[in-house]
Amino acid sequence: MSKLSIRDLDLANKRVLIRVDFNVPLSKDGLTITDDTRIRETLPTIEYALRRKAKVILCSHLGRPKGKPVATMSLRPVVDRLRKLLDDILDEGENVAFAPDCIGEVANEMAAQLESGQTLLLENLRFHPEEEANDPAFAKKLASLCDIYVNDAFGSAHRAHASTEGITHFVKQSAAGLLMERELTYLGKALSQPDKPFVAIIGGAKVSDKIQVIDNLLDIADAIIIGGGMAYTFLNAQGQTTGKSLVETDKIEVARAALDKAKAKGVRFLLPIDHVLADKFAHDAKTQLHEGTHPFHVDLMALDIGPKSIELFKSEISDARTIIWNGPMGVFEMPAFAKGTNAIAYTVAGNNDATTIVGGGDSVAAVKQSGVSDKITHISTGGGASLEFLEGKILPGVAALTDK
Ligand code: 3PG
Repeated sequence: MSKLSIRDLDLANKRVLIRVDFNVPLSKDGLTITDDTRIRETLPTIEYALRRKAKVILCSHLGRPKGKPVATMSLRPVVDRLRKLLDDILDEGENVAFAPDCIGEVANEMAAQLESGQTLLLENLRFHPEEEANDPAFAKKLASLCDIYVNDAFGSAHRAHASTEGITHFVKQSAAGLLMERELTYLGKALSQPDKPFVAIIGGAKVSDKIQVIDNLLDIADAIIIGGGMAYTFLNAQGQTTGKSLVETDKIEVARAALDKAKAKGVRFLLPIDHVLADKFAHDAKTQLHEGTHPFHVDLMALDIGPKSIELFKSEISDARTIIWNGPMGVFEMPAFAKGTNAIAYTVAGNNDATTIVGGGDSVAAVKQSGVSDKITHISTGGGASLEFLEGKILPGVAALTDK
């Protein structure tokens, strides 16, 4: 990696501000963390710093509170979880404190009094509008809390905010944390030097959300597999009528252009060849299988790929040496339409010869639901960030880090 890493720095007795992405899902009352993956994924960086006698200060956003304190978006519930997790690995749980604001007198005082091996979590950065506005004065206040700045928040690296970008102008060095490094290493290698064949599986509802990803991957991948709602815009572009299936009519031309580009580049572009059709968007819908290119019944919509598509996709995935998967193959939240997505999860996980990378909330959830997460080489913690990375964009939070 071309950027400075936390491993390049001497952390002993230094106040190290680590920007983490603790944007974790909470229960409605804001009191219970329903998935702590993002906290767990940051533990190696925190442990690394604590073992080297750093004074660790953690900052993050949670939710979108729009620049003012919102009780249900406080990071306070994270403290207890962090204490428990740090206790399990280091016996350091009791050394985690919480500052009720991320800047100001109390935060300054608490940061100044930190001792080596202690951790301080600051309250939600987005309780101040200056965070998202990337306000220099606010960034400077954050910078004043620390001697060293580390960004481990890959999930927020596509945001040019005060804690991800602005702050780097007020510290001597800005380094990547271990999670940030891991994300950039896996995603970066897939895009720049993938082991071949490289197969990208792109799903989800809308072509418009993923078209830039598809366009970028058409320059790199050997095959692109399309599933989910977006497949029906592509099938329409090929002349098939698809009943009530989700179709973005204003994107049919864009889809056609992607199909043409695939042909010109010799990229295998796989669309579903059979479909599970339903009479309504519901768990208890009546379903039927549709095969072939004749029109779907006008009142039916496709909610999952069929068994022949699964076999077609499986054969492509099983031969791959690099696989990127972003987006489900159908409405997998409903058991009746989860078969396609689950089959892809098992197939991706079952390819032991490939580097497998899964990103995006829904496909990550599908991999977890199928119980195969531990067989995936890398599960990205970034939703929007991993998509922008796959689009080929430079992420501001990464660009701002100090070059090696
Ligand atoms: C995410 O959940 O994708 C990140 O934490 C970024 O959150 P945001 O979309 O609210 O900036």
